Amino acid sequence: MMTGNELRRSFIEFFESKKHQHFESASLIPEDKTLLLTVAGMVPFKKFFLGEKKAPTKRVTTYQKCIRTNDLENVGRTPRHHTFFEMLGNFSFGDYFKKEAICWSWEYITEVLKIDKDRLYVSVYKTDDEAYSIWKDEIGIDPTHIVRLGDEDNWWAAGPIGSCGPCSEIYYDTLNMGKNNEEINCKPGDEGDRFLEIWNLVFTEWNKKEDGSLVPLPEKNIDTGAGLERVASVVQHKSNNFDTDIFEKIIKSIKDVVNLTEKDNTAIRIIADHVRAATFLICDGVLPSNEGRGYILKKLIRRAYGAGSIANKEIFNKGETFLYKIVDSVVETMKEAYPELVDKKEEIKDVIRSEEEKFAKTLKAGTELLLDDITKGVKIDGSTTFKLYDTFGFPFELTKLVCEQHNIEVSEEEFNKKLEEQVQRSKSSRVVMSDMIKDEFISNFYKQHGETKFTGYETLKDRAEILHISKKDEDTYEMIFDKTPFYAAQGGQVSDHGVIYNDSFKATVKDLIKKSDIFIHYVTIDGEIPSVGDVVELEVDKDFRAKTMRNHTATHILHRAVKEILGDHVNQAGSLVYDKGLRFDFTYGKVIDKETLRKIERRVNEIIQKDMKLEVTNTTKDVADKMGAIALFDEKYKDIVRVVDIVGYSAELCGGTHCPSTGVIGSFYILSEQAKASGVRRIEAVTGFGAYDYVNENRDLLQNVADEFKTDVHQLQDTVKKSIEKNTELEKEVESLKDELISHKISGIISEKKDINGVSLIVKKVKAEQKDLKTYIDKIKNKVDNVIVLLATVNDDKIGFACGVSKELTKKYKAGDIVKTVAQITGGNGGGKPDFAQAGGKDVAKLNEALEKVENILC
Ligand code: SER
Repeated sequence: MMTGNELRRSFIEFFESKKHQHFESASLIPEDKTLLLTVAGMVPFKKFFLGEKKAPTKRVTTYQKCIRTNDLENVGRTPRHHTFFEMLGNFSFGDYFKKEAICWSWEYITEVLKIDKDRLYVSVYKTDDEAYSIWKDEIGIDPTHIVRLGDEDNWWAAGPIGSCGPCSEIYYDTLNMGKNNEEINCKPGDEGDRFLEIWNLVFTEWNKKEDGSLVPLPEKNIDTGAGLERVASVVQHKSNNFDTDIFEKIIKSIKDVVNLTEKDNTAIRIIADHVRAATFLICDGVLPSNEGRGYILKKLIRRAYGAGSIANKEIFNKGETFLYKIVDSVVETMKEAYPELVDKKEEIKDVIRSEEEKFAKTLKAGTELLLDDITKGVKIDGSTTFKLYDTFGFPFELTKLVCEQHNIEVSEEEFNKKLEEQVQRSKSSRVVMSDMIKDEFISNFYKQHGETKFTGYETLKDRAEILHISKKDEDTYEMIFDKTPFYAAQGGQVSDHGVIYNDSFKATVKDLIKKSDIFIHYVTIDGEIPSVGDVVELEVDKDFRAKTMRNHTATHILHRAVKEILGDHVNQAGSLVYDKGLRFDFTYGKVIDKETLRKIERRVNEIIQKDMKLEVTNTTKDVADKMGAIALFDEKYKDIVRVVDIVGYSAELCGGTHCPSTGVIGSFYILSEQAKASGVRRIEAVTGFGAYDYVNENRDLLQNVADEFKTDVHQLQDTVKKSIEKNTELEKEVESLKDELISHKISGIISEKKDINGVSLIVKKVKAEQKDLKTYIDKIKNKVDNVIVLLATVNDDKIGFACGVSKELTKKYKAGDIVKTVAQITGGNGGGKPDFAQAGGKDVAKLNEALEKVENILC
């Protein structure tokens, strides 16, 4: 019987034999910022599927640690649910496709694992005839074992947008295997647990866009996932994943440490699952907190602790810690596949123990409160039990336990009612776990509420109902309403700013994103946190919107103007429209001269002055084409498009917000024009008061410069020109004076020369700039034959050396060597040619000593 470790190994080896490269399991913290946790084997490869990055190799196989928390309540109560699990997978990035994926999965299952073929069933996507016939004709599966299923079961997507495709699943029939699941007439995909899905083969070939359209991915890919725990249960003939060897040591440890038996199986399994998840989360760097992943970890530890203390009252009464002791068994079981656990073991235990201690204290405080109430004779009703749960994380069973010890009855029904009320009231502000960003959330939200109605074309102020609120991080909340006047960044235009408020709170809107037509508002909140169902006022910042709108309409005019002036072949290649200005990228291969740029700028201003009307119509793409509306390069449009028409000048498909007429823009001013990429130019410009302010700043600057020159602005150019000429003249004069000065000085220097073995040696400290030393040396060399000159100068505590050697001596003496030797004595260095070289020195105190050494070089 294959163990979990053997299974993992055999899977990887099998796919290695099919030329796959084994990649290590990636961290539970995905690189992909839209996901909180690694939820599937394909997560680390999303970028390869989408073609955002080239895969380093085309065939990959992995066993990937994963965590999913959507079925938390079921964990431990069903045979199959886990938070932490491992996914075995093989992936093709633009290499093999359906046929190989299907054939290899079958070969592995039937020939390596030797699973009984008669118990295998498969499903294919309802219209996927290709997969159907591979299963039927190539593999030879009995057609009664193949089912066609719809979107719900056999379409796999990593989220509402992004890579996706039809899938084919392999099921194991557990009929008559000792379970109460003899639903004879059911088939895969039906309710019930007769058919166990063991492997999902996804044929990832589509990219779903925001507007719902499916665009083929650059390449066809394969993503498969087989849950290790499930496959292990099949090969080990166990009807419950927790009965496989993967959990054996862990469960034994739980029984020993917590002192539990078979009758406590649910608690044991909850603990086993959660301790595994917590161990791996901490190993990947997550720490308990109130946010995101940290909150998930905290919740898992607390749930496991709760399960243990309900099952063993001693633990509860004494506030003991126990979970951390189970970590050893997790590490022991998993270390072969995840050796990093071994090094981190003590750290993991510390983190778990300290969270347990904190929770034990919380439970104690809650119990005291409860006992206080009991002594005072306060009725322990639904509100109390719920408050204990809500504020202290007290599982209901614990409250019940304490009450029972005092012969007080509590109603579970009342507790559940309160819990349900809270869930309804705010799905919500107490849900600190930000699952907002997860595509899965958006998809469910959309199913329930449909799209957010955008009212921001007609109004800047609206009243709407809160449909969702959650906390994203320390300061930011995410809010969704039934409608909103806030524009969400799209088509180059940035999101609106503004406020949301009612009598008891005020939120400032920092940003928005639109996902699948749902507008998510990112806000900071002052005052009370509002609840789902509250009706609030939404008010867009008028000034911000007006500025943005001017820049957007100006961008349309600019787009038309560049076509008019540079040619119709010029196209928009991107844009950014915000309150402070606009950026417009367009395809054009040449530099645009100043005059042409001026022409473009002037043309835009002309259109502004003509105060042309803008008309917005929603129409079909065909009609829009007939209107000559410009559709942007690779954008995809829905059936009904929005045309923004500057009547008589330009029409563009656009979802943005615009001025009622061009005159509102006021004025337009180009700040810069430059190359953005090869064949793409970028113009940056400002409008309205932005243009006015820019011109004003320049006017002030000009005036200040004129003041400095003590002239007026009109004379400035002339004055500056004259001043430059004067300066050049003066520089020349300085140079010639300096030359004279040097000539004068070197007579003195030469008079100090020494004759050593027929060589004239001059060593001298001079007051000069380093750059002038060469002139000194050249002049000396012109006057004295057979000479070696070494000059030093000190400026700002730094020494500069220069050495010159007459040509006829350079065979024997090298300026580079001499200057280097000397400079090194002062802690510096340098070098150069044999007849001239320079160096820098550091220690001024050693300068004299260094200069004295020069003579030695000659002796
Ligand atoms: N991504 C697919 C799944 O999670 C197959 O690996 O089921």
